[in-house]
Amino acid sequence: MYMQNHLKDKVALVTGSSRGIGAAIAQSLARNGAKVVLHGRDVAALFSMQTRIEGEGGIAMVVLGDVTKFDEIEAMRSKIEQTFGSIDILVANAGGSYTMPAPIEDIPVDGWHASVEGNLTATFLTIKSFLPGMKKRKSGSILTLSSSAARMANAQAPIPYSAAKAGVQMLTQSVAAQAGPFGIRVNCLAPATILTERNQQRIPDAQKIKLVDHHPIRRLGTPEDVAQAALFLLSDNAAWITGVILDVAGGVVMC
Ligand SMILES: NC(=O)c1ccc[n+]([C@@H]2O[C@H](COP(=O)([O-])OP(=O)(O)OC[C@H]3O[C@@H](n4cnc5c(N)ncnc54)[C@H](OP(=O)(O)O)[C@@H]3O)[C@@H](O)[C@H]2O)c1
Repeated sequence: MYMQNHLKDKVALVTGSSRGIGAAIAQSLARNGAKVVLHGRDVAALFSMQTRIEGEGGIAMVVLGDVTKFDEIEAMRSKIEQTFGSIDILVANAGGSYTMPAPIEDIPVDGWHASVEGNLTATFLTIKSFLPGMKKRKSGSILTLSSSAARMANAQAPIPYSAAKAGVQMLTQSVAAQAGPFGIRVNCLAPATILTERNQQRIPDAQKIKLVDHHPIRRLGTPEDVAQAALFLLSDNAAWITGVILDVAGGVVMC
């Protein structure tokens, strides 16, 4: 595998990198020379990712923890700092949708809480843990994950997820405004439907074809599409870019 070195000596944590978009971002950062911290809860998937990255000549370690629990994030941070040193690049990617699309009166209260906790609170807690060190060092680059579900109202979208991901956008921009004077950039990606392993299995083929028709670029996204956008925003090539919500969406949000 061709390796580039423009992130050499950078330490990058990608939360939720046992699979899906997070795994693709972690792999891309490693291919560009970063020491990557893989994170999630599925031990077998994480060690398989570590083996894959190391097999390509990259450097990776694994941490486990629930990102809805601040004490677990703090324990992860301590382990990372002892092993790889302080974090230069933080990707708060872990999250997901925890309710089915439904009329608001039918949305279970615990599904609402799970969506807000698993996306908005998790992003808040992750940044809360890692930002103080970046501020002390006066450098860092942070990326959060929103969704096209939070870029336009859609009666078919799961409302708790859309609302939580909309919160992630304002959280990102507020932190960007606070942290900018410390030399820290904070940006956000808003992907549309991405063909992760999970979505490949979950979305029936007929629905995939219908979804494609809504995209001006006539295909669904791949984890690598998101990883390329992440790599740009996290690197010094984007040194003058902060507080941006970037649609990685094949144009679907303007239709
Ligand atoms: N896929 C899409 O179409 C799409 C579109 C827009 C936005 N997004 C956003 O992009 C991000 C990644 O999505 P994905 O589709 O790649 O997800 P995925 O394939 O379901 O993987 C989710 C990852 O997050 C981890 N995770 C989730 N909740 C966690 C928690 N509480 N504590 C620790 N780890 C947790 C999982 O860890 P384990 O499996 O190891 O437990 C896994 O590594 C999410 O924020 C999602 O909302 C996805």
